[in-house]
Amino acid sequence: MKETLDPKIFLKPVTFVAGVATAEQFPVLTLPEVAFIGRSNVGKSSLLNALTNNGRLARTSSHPGHTRQLNFFNVSDVLHVVDVPGYGYAKAPKHMVKKWQDLLFDYLRGRPQLARAFVLIDARHGVTPEDGKMLAMLDDAAVSYQLVITKADKVDEKKLEWARGRAEASAAKRPAAFPGVLVTSAETKRGIDALRLAVIDALSGRR
Ligand code: GTP
Ligand code: MG
Repeated sequence: MKETLDPKIFLKPVTFVAGVATAEQFPVLTLPEVAFIGRSNVGKSSLLNALTNNGRLARTSSHPGHTRQLNFFNVSDVLHVVDVPGYGYAKAPKHMVKKWQDLLFDYLRGRPQLARAFVLIDARHGVTPEDGKMLAMLDDAAVSYQLVITKADKVDEKKLEWARGRAEASAAKRPAAFPGVLVTSAETKRGIDALRLAVIDALSGRR
């Protein structure tokens, strides 16, 4: 039987491996990886920082569209986590949006070590039509993924249940979606331990 990873791996210092803006630059890496995907400003970088107990690893910004490249981080020489640029940034020119979608699809299709993608959903908005398109892309790329509600601290429990319910209903309809929806807040650290366990679960059988 394989030993289960200790969630303490997330508490060790994390190192930046590469920032990638074109498909030719995808780093050749052998460790399994998980990716964090979601609309601009949904809280990807913040959640990654909370996951790895790091105040300032992935840059966070109140200006949507801040992260423009796929950023790869090494966690304890056990896995890589990938911070993916946000989609749905209304002010981005069309050709930039297309370029980004192509890059993301190339990544998703050509990455056998990608164990699971975590698709982040803002508690205030629930699953949006743009999120739906992203889920369809993941289904097309045959990447298994799990939905994660972010910014739980920004809404009351009733709204949170609404967002979770919508996310669960979306996941239930999707072939490559993992059933459990996680509820998190990078601010209060709610759900971060459960997210760590979900990452470890994604890696089981991959090492
Ligand atoms: P892009 O890289 O632009 O796609 O954004 P992102 O998804 O990485 O979002 P980021 O982590 O930069 O967060 C966007 C804003 O939301 C920042 O002002 C964060 O401080 C804030 N934020 C992120 N997570 C939370 C959370 O759990 N609670 C609250 N209250 N604010 C959050
Ligand atoms: Mg970011």
